Amino acid sequence: METMCWYEDRLELLDQTKLPHEVVYVKCFTAEDVARAIKTMQVRGAPAIGASAAFGMALAALKEDDADRQKFLARMEEVGRHLAATRPTAVNLFWAIERMLAKTRELVQSGADLKEGIVQEALAIYREDIEMNKRIGHYGNEVVPAKANILTHCNAGALATAGYGTALGVIRAAHAAGKDIHVYADETRPLLQGARLTAWELMQDNIPVTLITDNMAGYLMRKGMIDLVVVGADRIAANGDVANKIGTYTVAVLAKANRVPFYVAAPGSTVDLTLVNGDLIPIEERGHEEVISLYGQGVAPQGVKVFNPAFDVTPHELITGIITDKGIIRPPFVEGLKKLFTGEEE
Ligand code: MRU
Repeated sequence: METMCWYEDRLELLDQTKLPHEVVYVKCFTAEDVARAIKTMQVRGAPAIGASAAFGMALAALKEDDADRQKFLARMEEVGRHLAATRPTAVNLFWAIERMLAKTRELVQSGADLKEGIVQEALAIYREDIEMNKRIGHYGNEVVPAKANILTHCNAGALATAGYGTALGVIRAAHAAGKDIHVYADETRPLLQGARLTAWELMQDNIPVTLITDNMAGYLMRKGMIDLVVVGADRIAANGDVANKIGTYTVAVLAKANRVPFYVAAPGSTVDLTLVNGDLIPIEERGHEEVISLYGQGVAPQGVKVFNPAFDVTPHELITGIITDKGIIRPPFVEGLKKLFTGEEE
């Protein structure tokens, strides 16, 4: 099942709000359609929203008059701002938009075909994401024992990326290597990405999975039922602090208390070296209806006050290693991240 498919005139996105009950694709013909799909979480997951935004810019480019190249560039910058306003936490979104704009500027200067060049750049972002995830899987497989019970939170799978997945990429690679892998998936309230998406995705690939509610993770760890935790990331600050789906921090604290290794899997496009630590990462707050109801069914008294941060930050001290497309980084992360993602030593 593809998370997204590019056609000459449109982007089709697997509607993740409908899974696992219905497998339907939303057709996006404009950047506005893509922005709406990101905002409503029909497409979600850091690398997936980055790649979708890149295709959104490609759709805008195809519709734009390119006779006046400066006007064209100004319009693409406007579209980029619009797409960037959809969700604030995952840096992959801004990374992809910036890369598309850099390509546009280069094409404007060089006199090359703008539309063709922009479509090709979006396709490159999409293809490179899949390649990066496969490399994450390759490196991550090293830390997975021959027989392992792995806990994951949210969905950092093929559905959250252009394909293959980050945390689930590690799990896929270990499973493909013939290891005896069993996954415990946290359901991940409020939007149930673990129950609706991770459980579904793993079952599609016949990877053994057991669903638990979020408050069960500590019990399993204390019972010795978890060998390692692997989660994805929405943004990694320069010191190795990691923003990921709300509840990840809780899982990391539990893992530390129970001496369970806690790994984060993410591509270079998730690393934000401009932020010195995780306190600077903007955390999205979402609507109260996600907390007071489940599938439209109320679960709380009318009028109750609600707080709904969609992400939290796991401090680097709680992280055993960051599995990237360039290798595994272990503490001290500040040096490892700098070395791998700028080529500079600390
Ligand atoms: O709100 P979401 O569903 O977009 O949040 C997704 C996550 O937190 C994922 O774990 C993260 O984006 C990593 S995806 C490879």
